Amino acid sequence: MAISHCFFVFLLISSFVSLGFAEIRFTEIRSDDRSIIPFDEFGFTHTGRLELNVSQIALSNPKSDLDLTKVGFFLCTRDSCMHVLQQLQDRETTCALKSDVVKLVSSFKSLNGKSSLNIVYEENDADQYTLVFANCLSQVKVSMNVRSAMYNLDGKNNRQDYLSAGKTILPRVYFLLSLVYFTLAGIWIYVLYKKRLTVFRIHFFMLAVVILKAFNLVCEAEDKSYIKRTGSAHGWDVLFYIFSFLKGIMLFTLIVLIGTGWSFLKPYLQDKEKKVLMIVIPLQFVANIAQVVIDETGPFGQDWITWRQVFLLVDVVCCCAVLFPIVWSIKNLREAARTDGKAAVNLMKLTLFRQYYIVVICYIYFTRVVVYALETITSYKYLWTSVVAGELATLAFYVFTGYKFKPEAHNPYFVIDDEEEEAAAEQLKLEDEFEL
Ligand SMILES: *[C@@H]1O[C@H](CO)[C@@H](O)[C@H](O)[C@H]1NC(C)=O
Repeated sequence: MAISHCFFVFLLISSFVSLGFAEIRFTEIRSDDRSIIPFDEFGFTHTGRLELNVSQIALSNPKSDLDLTKVGFFLCTRDSCMHVLQQLQDRETTCALKSDVVKLVSSFKSLNGKSSLNIVYEENDADQYTLVFANCLSQVKVSMNVRSAMYNLDGKNNRQDYLSAGKTILPRVYFLLSLVYFTLAGIWIYVLYKKRLTVFRIHFFMLAVVILKAFNLVCEAEDKSYIKRTGSAHGWDVLFYIFSFLKGIMLFTLIVLIGTGWSFLKPYLQDKEKKVLMIVIPLQFVANIAQVVIDETGPFGQDWITWRQVFLLVDVVCCCAVLFPIVWSIKNLREAARTDGKAAVNLMKLTLFRQYYIVVICYIYFTRVVVYALETITSYKYLWTSVVAGELATLAFYVFTGYKFKPEAHNPYFVIDDEEEEAAAEQLKLEDEFEL
């Protein structure tokens, strides 16, 4: 069952594309003859600004009779970008820069022989725009250093807000969520203290995961709030990546450990279970490197697509790998229930592990598939809703895991009377027939 689930996730994920956070970006273009080079995407409010500083501009064919109005920067919304592509295809226009559906920022005509361009462009129509460079001269290669900064001016004191319109409340969202996780960690410590006689090692592991998640969110809030105010992250992104990395590894390890029943059902790991961990941990390392490259290059960087695919592939492999130990546990418990006398005990564990399997699958589907779907269909103004949806699903998963696998003073597995035992054996038989 695990494999078919995995394949489905992969198909769905590979059809969506996510957006990076726009901020101040530096791009070097060297001898590039692409006719269209997209740079960055940003959601403007009614007080949007684009600051564009281009330096060391050099054309490979610096003849004086080149038509420089055919080289330059423009902004287009999603719809108008599609429209221009259609126009180019239908040969209604030969140059995207000349199309009447795009907003011309500046053409190289205004260089007047200089090699740099500095402009502030005001955009007062709220929408999500892509900054695009167009070069409609054939056989002319362009080299330049581009610094692009897109921001909105914030109401009262005209402060610059470098977060896209739909993401500007994210720092607050992350901060609130981190408080929730710190509270959860507090509650968990209280539970561990109360039930200290029945605490397993895995419960401390769970505590570590919750605390890491809380710190991860603090760093993300701080990171985004620095970007919001200054357009760059000031090192908080490094801390954020470190915590993400630790949290990613710990969370997947935790799912595997719980799935195998480690420290609940048995104090050791089998060889094949160890192998799963040995696959998941290095892959998480790769996934995190991919995440860093994706975030830092922006949606139109040259390696972006490749790293995006690496990330998706690795993520899907990890998600699938963690399902196998749960499936093995379920199988073992079924067999044990049939052979040894304690059908009821095993059946309860079986139900628990089945629930856990379903919840892990829901968690993976939701945080990967539903969140990407939301991101693609929601308007740019409400992009934060997909982040909130994903975080709430994660929170629900943490709470479920903590609740179902909490330390129990009276372990329900071992206090079962004969009547229940018989009923359980009966149910197991029925189930077997049903499955056949
Ligand atoms: C970019 O150009 C704008 C407009 O001339 C100017 O105000 C700003 O200082 C420039 N920024 C940099 C980093 O050169």
